Amino acid sequence: MKIKLHWKLMFIFCSAVMLGLVVGYFYLTSHLTAYLEANLQNNLKRQLLLSKDFLESQLNISNHLANADSIADRIGDKLRLRATIIANDGTVIGDTDLNAAELKAVENHLNRPEIQEAISKGFGVSKRYSYTIKKYLLYMAVPFGREHTAGFIRLAVPLSDIELLEQRLQKTTGIAFLLILLFSVIIASLISFIISRPLVEMAAIARVMAKGDFSRKPSIYSKDEIGDLAMALSYMSDEIKGKIERIKQEGVKLDAVLASMFEGIMVVDEKGIILLINPSLRKLLFIDSDSQGKTPVEATRVTQVQDITDKILQSKQSLISEEISISRPAEKILAVNGVPIIRNNTLEGAVLVFHDITELRRLERVRQDFVANVSHELRTPIASIKGYAETLLDGAIDDKDNVKEFIGIIHQDSNRLANLIDDLLDLARIESGKLKMIFTPTDIKPILDSCLGVLDKSIKAKRLFVSVDMPKNLPHVLADEKRLSQVFLNLLDNAVKYTPDAGSIRVSVCVNDKLVQADISDTGIGIPEKDLPRIFERFYRVDKARSREIGGTGLGLSIVKHIVLSHNGQVWVKSELGRGSTFSFTIPQV
Ligand SMILES: Nc1ncnc2c1ncn2[C@@H]1O[C@H](COP(=O)(O)OP(=O)(O)O)[C@@H](O)[C@H]1O
Ligand SMILES: [Mg+2]
Repeated sequence: MKIKLHWKLMFIFCSAVMLGLVVGYFYLTSHLTAYLEANLQNNLKRQLLLSKDFLESQLNISNHLANADSIADRIGDKLRLRATIIANDGTVIGDTDLNAAELKAVENHLNRPEIQEAISKGFGVSKRYSYTIKKYLLYMAVPFGREHTAGFIRLAVPLSDIELLEQRLQKTTGIAFLLILLFSVIIASLISFIISRPLVEMAAIARVMAKGDFSRKPSIYSKDEIGDLAMALSYMSDEIKGKIERIKQEGVKLDAVLASMFEGIMVVDEKGIILLINPSLRKLLFIDSDSQGKTPVEATRVTQVQDITDKILQSKQSLISEEISISRPAEKILAVNGVPIIRNNTLEGAVLVFHDITELRRLERVRQDFVANVSHELRTPIASIKGYAETLLDGAIDDKDNVKEFIGIIHQDSNRLANLIDDLLDLARIESGKLKMIFTPTDIKPILDSCLGVLDKSIKAKRLFVSVDMPKNLPHVLADEKRLSQVFLNLLDNAVKYTPDAGSIRVSVCVNDKLVQADISDTGIGIPEKDLPRIFERFYRVDKARSREIGGTGLGLSIVKHIVLSHNGQVWVKSELGRGSTFSFTIPQV
């Protein structure tokens, strides 16, 4: 249970005051009572001595008192107490409270303690119960008369008088102390309020500070420890505010860095729970936004990422680099580098950096394939040339029948080599951007006519039916004439090559939304569906042997694609195996 400081201070103050008052009360009342009693005894003693003097003045020559009872009555009446006169044999001869008849019945007083004491010491005191008047009394007695032989005068006051006084005293001091207590409670309440108010205010400010509100400042300016505390709180608030501001700025900077990074970043804590994932990694692995608090495998659904994380956290190795392949959301190869975060010799987590090296690996593979393909493509004609040349050298040169055929083959293969090298060089120059293209408004019709002219011999040899469908007012296109001609020639050459005898080829050109589109269709062998996506790759051929046989290099479509793309156009193919193919491309009109 929480007890407020205000109440605690009140309780302490009031307890202290109460304790003081109680001790004070008992001390005061006991001392005052003792003082009152002593005062009463002193008074009684003085009155007794006075009464003794008076008695002795009333004595006759024979040391005898004639009217003792009336004297006792007078003394008692004047002093408002009980006076008793006792003869030296103990007989009571006068008493304020008794008349003459009653006096006779009173027993001898010689053995009363105060009388005995008066005899032995000249003065006697006794407190006891009087059966005569049925009260507790304080008795005091002295002998009187010449040589103290006439008798004793005794005065008595009821002790109840003292008790009454004591009670009144207790009541008055009690009331006074209660008033003091009430007053103290009010003062204590006021003081505890004054002390606790700034503390309560500071506690409230500290609470709102914890919630991130640093606008409130304590309004306490006292020059004491509480004032110091308020100043410290105010200073602390400014410091924390500044620090939070700096941390926020750092956070914004870090966010900006992480967001702009091309690499994927994942930060996990020492238990392997994700603290942070940057947008690149989110995109790379299709991770939902609420990945915080999950494990790497839960967030990425890739077990290798979890394995690498575990490995770093367990081994605390400085750097772990691994290459992983993922199939979801797309086929990708990722290079993952992970380092542990170690501070003051304790592991605090790990950072994993993901590089998408899919394209790099693909290019590597393409390059390797390319080198392999080029070597292969070169080797075949060279081997043939070498073989026939050797055969000729070995004597076949004298064989008139074969020599022409052999040299014909050597010629054909060297043409193929020349074509291949031309195509390779073209491709390399287009790809590297070294081939300067000059874009001018170009009319397609003469280009197409000249290409068909080049292929006329083959078309005729295969008895192909060629039709051209082109609007009369076809707009000019923005193109490099030589390269556009190369595109048409390659596509038409393929159509001729891959269409059996007596087939037909149709070229149609039309305008399609600021673009001029050309479609070259044939009724040829067609391309299997699985090969379609790769048909524009270098050296990719559906049937290598057949292509080679008819003089193909496998580079034609690749060159077409590159030229069309550098004209800001597009190229695509539709084909049905055994029925024919349609190659289409677009070029922007002027
Ligand atoms: N019109 C077509 N009909 C059927 N197959 C074709 C056609 N055009 C191209 N191809 C296929 O695409 C491959 C690549 O063509 P290309 O790059 O021009 O190389 P090449 O003609 O030297 O073989 C060819 O080998 C062939 O298999
Ligand atoms: Mg070709």
